[in-house]
Amino acid sequence: MSKYLITGGAGYIGSHVVKQLIEKKNDIVIVDNLSTGFQKTVNTLKKYALTKKVKLGFYKLDLADSKKLETVFAKENVQGVIHFAASIVVSESVRDPLKYYSNNTGNTINLLKACLKYKVNKFIFSSTAAVYGDPDPKTIPLKESGITIPISPYGSSKLFNEKIIQDVAFANTNFKYVILRYFNVAGASVDGMLGQSTKDATHLIKIALETTLGKREKMFINGTDYNTPDGTCIRDYIYVDDLASAHIKSLYYLNKNKGGIFNCGYGKGFSVKDVISMMKKVSGNDFKVETTKRREGDPAIVIADNSKIVNEMDWKPKYDDLKIMCETALAWEKKL
Ligand SMILES: NC(=O)c1ccc[n+]([C@@H]2O[C@H](COP(=O)([O-])OP(=O)(O)OC[C@H]3O[C@@H](n4cnc5c(N)ncnc54)[C@H](O)[C@@H]3O)[C@@H](O)[C@H]2O)c1
Repeated sequence: MSKYLITGGAGYIGSHVVKQLIEKKNDIVIVDNLSTGFQKTVNTLKKYALTKKVKLGFYKLDLADSKKLETVFAKENVQGVIHFAASIVVSESVRDPLKYYSNNTGNTINLLKACLKYKVNKFIFSSTAAVYGDPDPKTIPLKESGITIPISPYGSSKLFNEKIIQDVAFANTNFKYVILRYFNVAGASVDGMLGQSTKDATHLIKIALETTLGKREKMFINGTDYNTPDGTCIRDYIYVDDLASAHIKSLYYLNKNKGGIFNCGYGKGFSVKDVISMMKKVSGNDFKVETTKRREGDPAIVIADNSKIVNEMDWKPKYDDLKIMCETALAWEKKL
């Protein structure tokens, strides 16, 4: 049994990872300022930890407060850190870049300093496909070794972190890291315990959910003139519990390896129209969809080459199925 510190564990992806860590009988310390995460999620996880007879501690704390953060490290004696906490809205990052560079990059430096001071040498970081920017279609599916030119401050803030983490690992022999580049994360836990509660939806599936449940009158497709079979953008959607299992695999991987960067996706894509059709099918509601012009900076196709994580970590996704992603997300959204 180990104890892990999870930043952002009250948020969408972090909470699903905490659940799997609990199932593997690990103790957990969540650090979250609840800016976009939820106390209710922490309460759910605390109850779950009790049933599995493991400990779950929660600190409502901003990573900017490095003094308090260090007191957590001093007290808790954790064996590793999984770092989810971040600001994640791409369009907001364009309007307010300093928020992203301070919360995502500056606060990651605070966290890394605490790790070095308290000799916590396993670090897993949530990166993003946004580091690839607007990729050349010839480079799809995207490999980790490919070109990274982010087109938003959000993507840049994550790419800076990748570089900083790698430099820290280079300078500190014992420090090991895994950087996971998530593609489009979707769905909610199959047992209905957890899901995405985020209030300001910017992701396609969330918007489709809100539309089918009547929280929005209609939704828009941004651009139908892309060079794709149906003219709409294509993305690689990964089910949140499969992504969570990639974090568990990463912890095992670090027992024997120094570190690396890994794409997390299924290696295939669905178009905006595919997703909307699936949502209409699973909800049984032919909700209103209108088309509008392209959004600036939306690449036509973003698909991962996932062979590295599959081969090197023996990651075996179980839910490579858009229907399950839409069904579980819908079941969760109905409860909000
Ligand atoms: N959702 C996606 O599709 C996606 C895709 C690629 C990468 N990611 C990355 O995954 C991670 C988790 O994303 P999510 O979708 O779960 O988002 P989320 O907003 O649900 O979770 C982020 C959590 O971090 C907390 N947080 C933010 N700033 C903090 C701070 N300064 N101190 C303490 N806590 C703080 C929030 O309260 C929240 O609980 C992020 O790093 C994000 O960049 C997400």
